[in-house]
Amino acid sequence: MSKILVTGGCGYIGGHTIVDLIENGFEVISIDDLSKGSLRMNEGVAKVVGHPVKNYRVNLCNLEDTEAVFIENPDIVGIIHFAAFKSVPESVDHPLRYFRNNINSLVNLLQCAKENNVAHFVFSSSCSVYGNPEKLPVDEKAKLAEPESPYARTKQMGEDICKDFCKANPGFNVTLLRYFNPVGAHSSALIGELQEKPENLVPVITQTAIGKKSEMQVFGTDYDTRDGSCVRDYIHVMDIANAHTKALQYTLEGRNSEACEVFNLGSGNGVTVLELINAFEKISGEKLNYKLGPRRPGDVVAVYADNCKARACLDWDIKYDLEQMMDTAWRWEQALKKETAQSSLK
Ligand code: WQD
Repeated sequence: MSKILVTGGCGYIGGHTIVDLIENGFEVISIDDLSKGSLRMNEGVAKVVGHPVKNYRVNLCNLEDTEAVFIENPDIVGIIHFAAFKSVPESVDHPLRYFRNNINSLVNLLQCAKENNVAHFVFSSSCSVYGNPEKLPVDEKAKLAEPESPYARTKQMGEDICKDFCKANPGFNVTLLRYFNPVGAHSSALIGELQEKPENLVPVITQTAIGKKSEMQVFGTDYDTRDGSCVRDYIHVMDIANAHTKALQYTLEGRNSEACEVFNLGSGNGVTVLELINAFEKISGEKLNYKLGPRRPGDVVAVYADNCKARACLDWDIKYDLEQMMDTAWRWEQALKKETAQSSLK
């Protein structure tokens, strides 16, 4: 079995991707220093796949510790790099922390890939590199915008670092995956998004519906969109996960035409905040306690993907619709509540 290193494997997208990789016949190890990830994800993944997945609690900014993982695992054939800080408002308040963490970790990892001849690398990028696109749906040829936040800038810089690395190291293949808005959870409700104080819309909705939050706000209903609220491209986390497996198979099987290629990972559908809330209420049967509030600074008005390139090249397609995104997110929140209640009885 080919062994893949997943960094950030105890995080939301990392954990779900490990499940998809294993279900597609790969062996997986994880590096996660648990600064943002959680062993709860690692334990949940083990229940889903039926065996433990080794996690090395290593900070990728420490080159020596990172190299030690490669020395212990000389059979790594590919790397998927998720580990990064990703809070937009936190990056505005602490830019240097974001540059140090997100850039140093990537540089160290690419150095280890080169030294250990690991020639297949997938980089976790983001639709935030597009800013407010002039044309929708946005495709991979679109002009990149001036980043709205240091977080988005670390993603643009990361893509450029990967491109320059490939130019200087013929034979190395890097796939850049630009995620739109990953939501939902594995259908087992054994893994999902773990955020105590979420900023993202869907966990805010489910925490409000379950009573963890007393109310939520819709940030702005005066935008130039069909109902005044922002438009996003929500995509199920398991569709995102499968795209990573397909991206690795794409370069491992030598099907890539260039050393460094970029793909949009979105559903291709633009959905407004109010439409998403309605979809959630319909699926859950819950009436959501939300207020119409002011705009959130830095928000993009509307963005959704042209995903034709990924579907054509990666032999990948969307399997989950908006209802399934809401249903799995809600069942995960209910499972978390039950788990918390049971642990408080112990
Ligand atoms: C979506 C919409 C909010 C919370 C995400 C990730 C970012 C990057 C890009 C990966 C916006 C509105 C939200 C709330 C609301 N992804 N909203 N009330 O801003 O698209 O950014 O995608 O790299 O890391 O965060 O996602 O879920 O924060 O917001 O009205 O309580 O929901 O204004 O219009 P966003 P989000």
